[in-house]
Amino acid sequence: MPERKKMTLPSLFKKVANNEPITMLTCYDYPTAYFQEQAGIDMILVGDSLGMTMLGYESTLPVTMEDMIRHSQAVRRGSPNAWLIGDMPYMSYQPSVESAIRNAGRFMAEASCDAIKLEGGAAMADRIRGIVDAGIPAIGHLGLTPQSVSALGGFRVQGKSASLAKKIAEDAKALEKAGAFMILLEMVPDRLCEVITKRAEGCIIMSLGSGPHAHGQLLIYHDMFGLYPRFKPKMAKVFGNAGEVILNGLKAYHDEVIGKQFPQRENWFTMPDEEYDELLKELK
Ligand code: KIV
Repeated sequence: MPERKKMTLPSLFKKVANNEPITMLTCYDYPTAYFQEQAGIDMILVGDSLGMTMLGYESTLPVTMEDMIRHSQAVRRGSPNAWLIGDMPYMSYQPSVESAIRNAGRFMAEASCDAIKLEGGAAMADRIRGIVDAGIPAIGHLGLTPQSVSALGGFRVQGKSASLAKKIAEDAKALEKAGAFMILLEMVPDRLCEVITKRAEGCIIMSLGSGPHAHGQLLIYHDMFGLYPRFKPKMAKVFGNAGEVILNGLKAYHDEVIGKQFPQRENWFTMPDEEYDELLKELK
């Protein structure tokens, strides 16, 4: 496969100008990043969802900066050319603008990320402004923001009423004005996503379960391949049931070892007869 060109901020905006949808997926490890790179995925988000999908926590809240940096580094090694987003974990930016800039800088310096993402609306606009002023491209995240899942009353659609939808649209404007080059809308109604996309000025809008009217689409990798056992969100299309393939393979391995069908001759290594005889002599 020919080497792909490095994705850049101007090339993302060019796609928007040409009405070409942007593709974005979550990713947390080297081999998956390698495949996403080969598939030509434009943007990779090392989401703090890794707390649930990779580490088995009940929520994203226990995820640390150290977890995020380690996984982002692995993803960057697998995908040198996608536009790589580091997702700022819980309490890495909420306490202050200073903490936000410092931790955003870690994603860039230690994991070669291209941008960061953080959750929250107008209340987080000063964090976005600080990060952007420090020369780091920033993405806002509105709608269902998993770090506030307790305040939001669970993993559910946000902005169904006119008043809540208006608040999300206003938050989007506040983030745009603060300098966010992109806003991710997670689980908001399609018409709200359409309104926000139409009102956007120089800001790319991405949809996760928010309909087709955004400039691009994001999915959680584990949902699209049946790899997360706890639940399957309605919005996630399963593009291949890797979970089932893996489970069948594991059962077959278990059965073959018990049934002494594995390993076969091609699965082990031998040594020359004379070395073996010498070994037996030495061990006497
Ligand atoms: O952590 C993550 O993967 C995310 C997506 C749900 C947008 O923030």
